[in-house]
Amino acid sequence: MGAPAACVRAEEGPGARPRSLKLVCASLRRQRFHTSGSHSKGQTAAEHLWLTRHLRDPFVKAAKVESYRCRSAFKLLEVNDRHQILRPGLRVLDCGAAPGAWSQVAVRRVNAAGADPSAPVGFVLGVDLLHIFPLEGATFLSPADVTDPRTIQRVRELLPGGRADVILSDMAPNATGIRSLDHDRLISLCSSLLDVAPDVLHPGGTFLCKTWAGSQSLGLQKRLAEQFQNTRTVKPRASRKESSEVYLLATQYQRVKGPVED
Ligand SMILES: C[S@@+](CC[C@H](N)C(=O)[O-])C[C@H]1O[C@@H](n2cnc3c(N)ncnc32)[C@H](O)[C@@H]1O
Repeated sequence: MGAPAACVRAEEGPGARPRSLKLVCASLRRQRFHTSGSHSKGQTAAEHLWLTRHLRDPFVKAAKVESYRCRSAFKLLEVNDRHQILRPGLRVLDCGAAPGAWSQVAVRRVNAAGADPSAPVGFVLGVDLLHIFPLEGATFLSPADVTDPRTIQRVRELLPGGRADVILSDMAPNATGIRSLDHDRLISLCSSLLDVAPDVLHPGGTFLCKTWAGSQSLGLQKRLAEQFQNTRTVKPRASRKESSEVYLLATQYQRVKGPVED
């Protein structure tokens, strides 16, 4: 199976050409017919290079071996190994969850499927514009737009106690290929999530979001610093060096608005 389109799109980030991506996705679907040695008809050199790199990518291979839905699982695994943001019993809101690799990681780390009977059982709620195939231990709200107030209302209803301990966002808008525009749109997605944090995130909670570096990154970092005790930027090894992708990790949420029910 080739990488789901959502993963491919976000891996490329701003500067990616959507037209090429369509072709790349088609190429991925055909990959069993075109080995890395052959340069199929109709493929440009850039597309061929992308596909070759993808097929050689150790994280793509590891994702297949470990049955993760997408290579991005390794980004969250690394962030978690370094900063211990997920532990048994926590409630996780995974925004931009399709196809579900981060949710797979979260389910295991917070024990949402109850696999470890001796540990507290956590909860994972994934939300995406795209349909997400069911995953044991996770609840999915899809298709749903995180920027829609009705989605946030539903999220609050579904989360035990109405709040999450950890908000993850690997959300990415469809790349237009115009770097600054794509950057602005992703920052705006992160900001809208931060806007609802007072109603959704438990005090002391964690916020991890994907960004594409650009002119508005500092503004978002400042907002995080106002509301969380610790903030840092993280560039996991699975995030391609040539990509402007960088994750912002904020811990110890301080700002509270509205009643905390638990
Ligand atoms: C890189 S993919 C996420 C991959 C996911 N973390 C995983 O590991 O499987 C980015 C996702 O963000 C979603 N997305 C973008 N804008 C969104 C929005 N406003 N609300 C919900 N999901 C959104 C896209 O549909 C896409 O599936």
